[in-house]
Amino acid sequence: MELDYEYFKREVYKITQIDLNAYKEKQMKRRIDTLILRHHLTGYESFVSCLKNDKEVLEEFVNYLTINVSEFYRNPDQWRILEKDIIPLLSERFGSGIKIWSAACSTGDEPYTLAMVFSDKPGRSDFSIYATDIDKQVLDQAKSGIYPKKALSDLPKEYKDKYFSTENDATFKVDPSLRKYIRFEKHNLLLDPFPKNQHLIVCRNVLIYFTEEAKEAIFEKFYDSLAPGGVLFLGSTEQMINYKKIGYERKASFFFEKPL
Ligand SMILES: C[S@@+](CC[C@H](N)C(=O)[O-])C[C@H]1O[C@@H](n2cnc3c(N)ncnc32)[C@H](O)[C@@H]1O
Repeated sequence: MELDYEYFKREVYKITQIDLNAYKEKQMKRRIDTLILRHHLTGYESFVSCLKNDKEVLEEFVNYLTINVSEFYRNPDQWRILEKDIIPLLSERFGSGIKIWSAACSTGDEPYTLAMVFSDKPGRSDFSIYATDIDKQVLDQAKSGIYPKKALSDLPKEYKDKYFSTENDATFKVDPSLRKYIRFEKHNLLLDPFPKNQHLIVCRNVLIYFTEEAKEAIFEKFYDSLAPGGVLFLGSTEQMINYKKIGYERKASFFFEKPL
């Protein structure tokens, strides 16, 4: 008899430590079924044995499951608020040693954008970015610093001119000088400890895949992770309705502060 999704979730956790219980089930099942069909397998049981025996299929599975579309300066209006209002506030509060965490950073478009907007302002060259994701493949891509043209379509021209060189007709390379600000590391938001004393946490376009309970627990852990006066920057797809209950104050759309 074909084993069910409960069995599949347990096996996936053993193999990858990804807890599918925390992800919205309908969406996940649809993606998993697509992969099973793509590999001409018959169901969860044969897929599990394939995941155990074939490293490439396993990497493909994690990569496919975790949906890693990203781009530079994604949702420009929100980045403008960061540049105009939030960076000056953080600089005033924390001086030049600003600690930033780009959580679920995918292919690195987000942490490199952070490095650009922070290093572009005079006197702010002393900051560090901890850039994490659960998916090793996207982190390897991020470290290479090579991007398709379309990833840059929302990035203001002055940043493009300053921080990119053309690789070939279809790709650009980000200025390697930005790499020194960024430490890329594998990190699972549902399992690993969160760093402490962060001044800015950027977590965008990932919590949408999680259940309400998982999302709530992460918002609380981000709160603990922030230094007083630190700011959480969310994406348009993340909604934090009960932010007051946790202790946050809203600074602007998508920006939440842990009060001083
Ligand atoms: C759509 S991308 C968002 C990238 C970037 N933050 C942005 O807004 O453009 C979602 C990322 O979340 C990552 N992700 C999914 N589940 C995760 C988890 N449990 N822990 C850490 N990262 C996770 C995926 O690997 C993927 O790279």
